[in-house]
Amino acid sequence: MHTGDMDTPVPLETQAILRTGEAVRVRPILPADVPNLMDFHSRLSVNTTRLRFFTPMRRLSPEFAQHLCTVDFVKRVAYVVSPLTDDTIYGVGRYESESENSAELAFVVEDAKQGTGVGSLLMRRLIDHARTCGFERLTAVVLCENQHMLTLFRESPFLSEITMEHDCAFVKLNIAAPEEAPAPPRRKAPGLVPLPTRKAG
Ligand SMILES: CC(C)(COP(=O)(O)OP(=O)(O)OC[C@H]1O[C@@H](n2cnc3c(N)ncnc32)[C@H](O)[C@@H]1OP(=O)(O)O)[C@@H](O)C(=O)NCCC(=O)NCCS
Repeated sequence: MHTGDMDTPVPLETQAILRTGEAVRVRPILPADVPNLMDFHSRLSVNTTRLRFFTPMRRLSPEFAQHLCTVDFVKRVAYVVSPLTDDTIYGVGRYESESENSAELAFVVEDAKQGTGVGSLLMRRLIDHARTCGFERLTAVVLCENQHMLTLFRESPFLSEITMEHDCAFVKLNIAAPEEAPAPPRRKAPGLVPLPTRKAG
């Protein structure tokens, strides 16, 4: 597994089409995204923040936003979906390593864009990234009531286990399948188009 350092290149930005027909970018989060992330968070409903953070977090502090926007693209990784025209954030997907081979996933999509494919794009991008970094397992803790998130996991070809305990579902994805023989996708996801790589500044 690689270790993150300041020379880790910022990953590829890609493009895709949402189910609404809107063209979007799936791009790595950057420290400059702090105001974009705070704007994004201010548009989330209380229920959406509760499903993401397990508490109705009405406000994102600048310090927490800075923490969320500062990643190393190895052990802490985050991508956002934005329109082609500006850096508005429609959704964020991230993982943080919890051991050498395993990382925990989390997603949040703004209410107006939920159900349009943003979450699916972010999941696919994060799995690709995690496999490249040598992770073998991705995990997530989801409220059992969160059927939209569980649907997304159930449709992943990498899903290996969902266990329910009290009001939480513990999800495991086994992403260690050989690169040359990936499991066939169970669902149609929008295509991704690679754009030129940029170096971390
Ligand atoms: C869960 C979440 C990340 C999914 O992202 P999304 O962009 O809405 O998901 P997608 O559009 O890619 O859809 C994934 C599946 O969920 C379902 N879905 C998601 N949101 C939906 C909505 N608002 N209405 C109806 N169906 C929805 C769809 O059925 C879709 O399945 P399909 O492709 O078979 O139709 C997003 O709804 C969200 O941010 N929810 C609140 C925060 C949260 O729950 N975070 C997860 C904590 S880890």
